[in-house]
Amino acid sequence: MIGEILTFPVHGDKNGSLVALEKGADFPFEIKRVYYIWGTTPTYVRGHHAHKNLEQVVVCTSGSCDFILDDGTKRETYRLDSPTKGLHIKNNVWREFTNFSPGCVVMVLASEHYNEADYIRDYDEFLRSKGLT
Ligand code: TYD
Repeated sequence: MIGEILTFPVHGDKNGSLVALEKGADFPFEIKRVYYIWGTTPTYVRGHHAHKNLEQVVVCTSGSCDFILDDGTKRETYRLDSPTKGLHIKNNVWREFTNFSPGCVVMVLASEHYNEADYIRDYDEFLRSKGLT
């Protein structure tokens, strides 16, 4: 598998649920940045990039969407449809995401600060960076 689905422990009862994400056993890296995306056009495809040095965990905190991961040799689709599920994406993985449900909110936890120079936005350059062309 290109990405890894993490299942977060839930605290709660009939009155509500809570997930806590802290570096340690349940979370793979120290979080330096959080951002979230909403109001997405259902069929629009976002992403179209890879990162040279960035790990992320993506959580659909509300609604659902699909993440397509591509390692240069294969593509895999991950459905994110629960706030208890996180998709761990490591370095050098091309990602696209789409099929947003109404009210979808995508939260991303990132291991580094925002750095435009860390993005690879050209697919051929991505393949070259992996030594695949
Ligand atoms: P981008 O990463 O291209 O979005 P997506 O992959 O979801 O399609 O980012 C969209 C815009 O937001 C772009 O102008 C850069 C800006 N941005 C920040 O300023 N800080 C951030 O942490 C992120 C992720 C994006």
